[in-house]
Amino acid sequence: MADTKAQDAVALLKQDHRNVEELFEQFEKASGDGRKQKLATQICAELIVHAQIEEEIFYPACEGKVDEDLLKESYVEHYAAKVLISEIIAGEPSDEFYDSKVKVLSEEIEHHVEEEEKRLEGLFAQAKKADLDMDALGEQLAARKQELKAEIEANGLPTPKLTTLEETSI
Ligand SMILES: [Fe+2]
Ligand SMILES: [Fe+2]
Repeated sequence: MADTKAQDAVALLKQDHRNVEELFEQFEKASGDGRKQKLATQICAELIVHAQIEEEIFYPACEGKVDEDLLKESYVEHYAAKVLISEIIAGEPSDEFYDSKVKVLSEEIEHHVEEEEKRLEGLFAQAKKADLDMDALGEQLAARKQELKAEIEANGLPTPKLTTLEETSI
């Protein structure tokens, strides 16, 4: 990593949020099934990787250090998003509800991002106040993100893991 500065955990996760927001905006403006499918696939890939690194690394690090209800809701919001993500992956732009699914997914993500980024009481704000090593977490998140992206590039999009159905560790 010659010229890219390592990001702390919150900076990395916020950057992911901005990237996916941009993709949702592009989808809104897009026309043509090919373009829409390409963007929707990118959105789903970004969200699968993002949710997974949060669930594997960031959320567990927050356990016991942030409001427990908020943390549990975060897992459930991921679950709800993954249901739509799975349907979007399985579908195609000519499907009657395709655009609506992408739109509702964007609204769910907007709400979830707000819960994570809200000033003072959001998950990230609470995590920042707690004694977490954000630089070390940022490195772990970046490494895992690269791994997952490489897996997707090699094997295509996976079916998202529906974590709260299986029970989480909190
Ligand atoms: Fe997030
Ligand atoms: Fe999240």
